[in-house]
Amino acid sequence: MSGTTPIVSIDPAEPDRPWIARAARILREGGLVAFATETVYGLGADATNPEAVARIFAAKGRPATNPLIVHVHDVAMARTCVRDWPPEAEALARAFWPGPLTLVLPRSGIIPDVVTAGGESVGVRVPRTWVARDLIQALGRPIAAPSANRSTGVSPTVARHVAKDLDGRIDLILDSGPTTVGLESTVLDLTTRQPRILRPGSITAEQIGRALGGLRVREVGAEADAAGPLASPGRMAVHYAPRARSIRVDPERIPEVSWPARAALLVFDPQDVPPVPDSVLRYDCLTPETAEIALYALLHACDDAGLDLIVVVPPPDRPEWRAVRDRLWRATRPWPSGSPD
Ligand code: TXA
Ligand code: MG
Repeated sequence: MSGTTPIVSIDPAEPDRPWIARAARILREGGLVAFATETVYGLGADATNPEAVARIFAAKGRPATNPLIVHVHDVAMARTCVRDWPPEAEALARAFWPGPLTLVLPRSGIIPDVVTAGGESVGVRVPRTWVARDLIQALGRPIAAPSANRSTGVSPTVARHVAKDLDGRIDLILDSGPTTVGLESTVLDLTTRQPRILRPGSITAEQIGRALGGLRVREVGAEADAAGPLASPGRMAVHYAPRARSIRVDPERIPEVSWPARAALLVFDPQDVPPVPDSVLRYDCLTPETAEIALYALLHACDDAGLDLIVVVPPPDRPEWRAVRDRLWRATRPWPSGSPD
């Protein structure tokens, strides 16, 4: 595909029907459409069409070993994508759908190999935006959609981020404004006896455990996972990474950093940080919620400003910061190199 991809503005509260119909037609014909979910913008294709799904991997430069999440309109459609629907899935769908929770279950025959990277399980979720839900309904089939960015890049939270990465490589971008959650969904594996979080998100292990009647949910530590074996296929250690050199630094080591002319300091949680040169752009994200909303926009802004260095002072290892820490550990390297995290 060559040339520029059309971007159309669409009302998030009441998505214009003609544009939804047009986007659904593109999907039905095997094309690719980017649209907002509540977490990040997704790059959608008809999940039941293997050629269309293969185009997602080509457009993103994504390794074929990394499975895609399938977006469905409701529980009834989710059930067509999976072999069985255990009581845990029912309880979690009731508690969190539509919303940022992906459930990994054994896949059904309608889900092609290319979606699951050849695996026997599929991730499904009901997104919480009208644009996404109307689009799925208009297509009448599930939509496979990863985040709408080039592989290993920073996920998009506004349509402009999508265009920056994928202009000319996809058929249409539906611009319904910024996303409201800002970080990708929590991915929960329900194929093992004890449910296990493969990717932390704004829905925490504690919340999931509570919805399952006090069950203990296993978590994969951000740091261990970023450095070592991968729990989820395709979960790469370096991911969500901006172009600028990005390092994470303990506050007490900040005075040792040598700052280039164009640099930013991102501080998470209220923390005392030693003074830095006036030229350094400083952003403080005081709460997990604001950090989740702002993180990707900040990383995109740092790249757009042509910064040479991003220094991150990470938040403490508390449950409410787990999702942000997971993404920061993938976006940055420890500094000084080899320092304990
Ligand atoms: O919030 C989100 O989840 C966004 C929006 C667009 O829905 N999507 C998203 O997709 O983040 P993506 O492709 O960027 O990340 C999907 C994650 C990957 O870590 C992948 O390995 C994991 O989900 N995943 C998908 N299917 C899986 C499966 N069957 N088993 C294990 N992990 C799976
Ligand atoms: Mg992604």
